[in-house]
Amino acid sequence: MSHEEFPTDRPAVVTCGLPYANGDLHIGHLRTYVGGDAYARALQTLGQETAFVCGSDMHGTPVAVNAEKEGVTPEEFALEWHDQYAETFPRFGVEFDNYGHTHDQTNTEMTRSIVRALDEAGLVYERSIMVAYDPAGDQYLPDRYVEGTCPYCGERARGDECDEGCGRHLEPGEVERPVSTLTGNPAEYREREHRFFRVSELQPYLQAFIDRLEGTANAKNQPREWIEGDLQDWCITRDMDWGIDYPDGDREDLVLYVWVDAPIEYISSTKQYTEDVGTGEYDWTKVWSPDSQVPKGPDETIDGGEIVHVIGRDIIQHHTVFWPAMLRGAGYAEPRAVLASGFITLDGAGFSTSRDRAVWADEYLDEGFHPDPLRYYLVSYGAFQQDVDFSWAKFRERTNNELVGTLGNFLYRSLLFAHRNYDGTPDTDPTEEVVDRIEQAVEEFREGVNEHSVRAVARAATSLAQFGNEYIQREEPWRLVDDDPERAARVIRGCVQIAKAVLVLFAPVAPGRCATVWDRLNEDGSLAGTTVDDALEPPAAEFDAPVEPFETVDEETVTELNEKLKEQVAATADAAADEEAGAEADDTGEESEKLEPLVHERISFDEFQALDMRVGRVLEAEGIDGADDLARLIVDIGLEERQVVAGIKQLHDLDALPGTKVVLAANIEKAELFGVESDGMVLAAGEEADLLTTHDDAELGERVR
Ligand code: MF3
Ligand code: ZN
Repeated sequence: MSHEEFPTDRPAVVTCGLPYANGDLHIGHLRTYVGGDAYARALQTLGQETAFVCGSDMHGTPVAVNAEKEGVTPEEFALEWHDQYAETFPRFGVEFDNYGHTHDQTNTEMTRSIVRALDEAGLVYERSIMVAYDPAGDQYLPDRYVEGTCPYCGERARGDECDEGCGRHLEPGEVERPVSTLTGNPAEYREREHRFFRVSELQPYLQAFIDRLEGTANAKNQPREWIEGDLQDWCITRDMDWGIDYPDGDREDLVLYVWVDAPIEYISSTKQYTEDVGTGEYDWTKVWSPDSQVPKGPDETIDGGEIVHVIGRDIIQHHTVFWPAMLRGAGYAEPRAVLASGFITLDGAGFSTSRDRAVWADEYLDEGFHPDPLRYYLVSYGAFQQDVDFSWAKFRERTNNELVGTLGNFLYRSLLFAHRNYDGTPDTDPTEEVVDRIEQAVEEFREGVNEHSVRAVARAATSLAQFGNEYIQREEPWRLVDDDPERAARVIRGCVQIAKAVLVLFAPVAPGRCATVWDRLNEDGSLAGTTVDDALEPPAAEFDAPVEPFETVDEETVTELNEKLKEQVAATADAAADEEAGAEADDTGEESEKLEPLVHERISFDEFQALDMRVGRVLEAEGIDGADDLARLIVDIGLEERQVVAGIKQLHDLDALPGTKVVLAANIEKAELFGVESDGMVLAAGEEADLLTTHDDAELGERVR
């Protein structure tokens, strides 16, 4: 691994957290996969040699418990879901170079060899511990077979993770007041001999590692308290049948803990990719550097490729503590970056698979939507580590305003104009202004990748398209064709170049639709093979009429989809009531209350101070033509008056609003909605957009602190 700017001359691998092969995928699950896919594609677009790998997580209690409910063997159950995932991902443009699973031979062997290496390095020992046991069911209760109270934060927790509270990994025996999830009976603790990995010994290494780790702030900061605190050794065996047997017939009665063999699939999957394409094309050993000599000093690293893990923020500890410790102990290269995404809510509340409060992956496609608008939504909604709320109304807004209104509009109108008037690209050069602007976009794209921000990557393309729209609007080539044909040709030449660059830069986010537009341009190669260098290569002299890249979503569709979701949830609730199964716990760990879950991640006081919120008074309020929900407000914030667009048209009597005191976020980035600039945001809460205000003598322009 290096910490040089991308692209580097080492091979990279981008991985996504392995999905447990235990149930349907909804669009919330897709966030990390789409993010990982877009990131891997963006690296390739920079010219970085990159493999993108993943696989299904077949073992552990998450699979065993669900298989048991269905009355099938875990293997049968997991393989079925594995096949389904392998089919589903590509339908969302998520195209892994290799998609394996943890139960295959490559991973079984790789896991054994790594555990053996840890053992040989003196990093594994046996110790007797207390494990949960169900006397009625006469069986041990690893992980999800037991629930109780988290000893760290007091929340309800599963046997191996405090999934609703502090998010910590819990060791066997740690959960307090254990109850068997099999029988609902209180569990006993019994003594058993288990194998442990001496993570504590690697503390100096982990401390140095976390200092050099790149990625999202949550992945770099959250593990510090664990690494710098009292680092515990990690139990790597379980009393179960389903899993990878402890190697060499040593401890035949135990399998390896699922979190041992799961991340090892990152290596196995990369290896399978090499076996598929040959070492000339991609060499997994240059990435992972298997069986290396382990350096003594914590600052010395094992030389390897650029390893980037894309995960959900609930598994940061596994990827920044246990996993790098395993890699180091066994003599493998370490990750360069961990990108941990925030969670996703639906209409402000948690997804819940058991309540059918979800938009299922298949369902989205069955509605006839192309995957690209969803990809764009997931990638661009907020920073990767921030939580994302999905709603059909917002999906419509973003698709219509940004994809259709800005990006699609520019691509279509400029390419159509070029095709109609010049049969393709006019035979002249673009202006310097255009070339400079494209170079700027390429630079923004490069910075986005280096800051590990798929959102910034997306924005590099959308803001270039925005420039394209302004440029064509300002130059009015349709007027120039007669009066100044030379100028008209230059302008359109520039627009075709911008369009080409937009397609190259936006392809990581919307690979399908960009390729469709690209394919009409008579370019030599496919869009997938292009790099940023192609953004400024001359386009083909002749090309076909373009297609519209994106379709608008109409309001009725949103209404119907919202209705459908409500009915879906109600039907499941009825069914549950019929079965009187209300007491059964939601085994997905997803919140299902009406309120959006609290953001676990803390921000610093400085970050809060960065928000400039002011007391203001509404001076004018009027609806915006053509927008169902939006109103244009003029707000006096003491120092100046601001025009803002607020989604309150139907929720407030606009005529009665002037005079109302409000709170305005004054330094939020400007936006344009339905052609109206919004310079600030009025704060509100709740379904009815209850406006925030102050109740006493705070003057206009006073800061909220
Ligand atoms: N299956 C795990 C989960 O969904 C993730 C495994 S990621 C890996 O939480 F690192 F183990 F691969
Ligand atoms: Zn906890």
